[in-house]
Amino acid sequence: MSKILVTGGTGYIGSHACVELIESGNEVVIVDNLYNSNIAVLDRIEKLTGVRPTFYEMDILDADGLRRVFHEHKIDAVIHFAGYKAVGESVEKPLEYYHNNITGSLTLYMVMKEVGCKTLVFSSSATVYGSPKSCPIEEDFPVSTTNPYGSTKLMNEMILKDICISDPEWSVLCLRYFNPIGAHKSGLLGEVPNGIPNNLVPYIARVAIGQLEYLRVFGDDYDTVDGTGVRDYIHVVDLAKGHVSAVNHALGVKGFDTINLGTGNGYSVLEVLHAYEKACGKTLPYKVVERRSGDIATCFASTTKAKEVLGWEANYTIDEMCEDSWRFTQMNPKGIGTDL
Ligand code: NAD
Ligand code: UFG
Repeated sequence: MSKILVTGGTGYIGSHACVELIESGNEVVIVDNLYNSNIAVLDRIEKLTGVRPTFYEMDILDADGLRRVFHEHKIDAVIHFAGYKAVGESVEKPLEYYHNNITGSLTLYMVMKEVGCKTLVFSSSATVYGSPKSCPIEEDFPVSTTNPYGSTKLMNEMILKDICISDPEWSVLCLRYFNPIGAHKSGLLGEVPNGIPNNLVPYIARVAIGQLEYLRVFGDDYDTVDGTGVRDYIHVVDLAKGHVSAVNHALGVKGFDTINLGTGNGYSVLEVLHAYEKACGKTLPYKVVERRSGDIATCFASTTKAKEVLGWEANYTIDEMCEDSWRFTQMNPKGIGTDL
């Protein structure tokens, strides 16, 4: 059993990871400032696992606070989810994004170095591949970014690589997520976007529940199966299980590595819409509009390295992802913390 510090542990992916970590016998300590999550998530993790994780309402920019956490707990490894994640907003507010995602992360890494906790799993993103030359995308493909959010992910990877070069005691795995969607089967945990969703499945969910009128499909003239954008959607529970494998692996090796977490399958916008229609039993209206600036046609992962290194692969189908998203949406029409 290991004791894992989970930053951002009340957020969408972090909360699912906490459940999987606890269910596989680990102890979890969460640090989250609740900027984009609700304290009620803790009740739900407890309801699902029978264990209430230790929780610190704290900002990762608070170095003294983090020192206190490490002194109060003998932490074996950190999984670092905390950060801002909206691509469009990062273009409007670059300073806030760099401050939170870079200064915040640096603060965490400095304190980890100080206390001698040198095992880390970092939430990176497929966005670091920029516009990939081909698919499936392998981990050694060239990296580049087109917005401040993506830059914060790539910069974190560079910083962590340099830390590992400077001190061979460190073990760091950067997990490059493709498109996490879906929710816990219980309907108790899921994604609660702030305001009007930017991402496809949260948007479709709002159309299905009647809070938004129709889906805008951003372009149908890409070189894809039906002209709409293709992505590698991965169930958040598969992703969470990937973190359990990753942290176990990181605890047994030294050095820096990057690993894709995806399914290796690509689905178009219309294919996802139709899977969601099947899940909710309704026809969902949509209109094709202009391409969204910065979007690429196709993006899906090579999953070979994750299988080889972590012994992990995704299992859930696109239909299950949509069914679980729909169950969560129906059970939590106003989000988490407003009911139950
Ligand atoms: P989320 O917003 O649901 O969770 C992030 C959590 O971090 C929130 O609970 C928020 O309150 C907390 N947080 C933010 N800044 C903090 C700070 N300074 N101190 C303490 N807590 C802070 O996001 P998510 O979808 O669960 O994403 C988790 C991580 O995965 C993020 O780093 C994100 O960039 C990355 N990621 C997400 C996706 C995706 O599509 N969801 C894709 C690739 C990578
Ligand atoms: N789309 C629509 N209408 C919408 C929303 C999205 O047609 O209302 C389309 C997009 O054009 C794209 C696909 O649906 O073809 C997926 O779009 P998302 O916004 O859901 O996801 P992205 O692939 O654009 O971006 C996501 C995360 C990023 C992350 C990236 C790579 O939002 O943070 O995956 O991992 F960097």
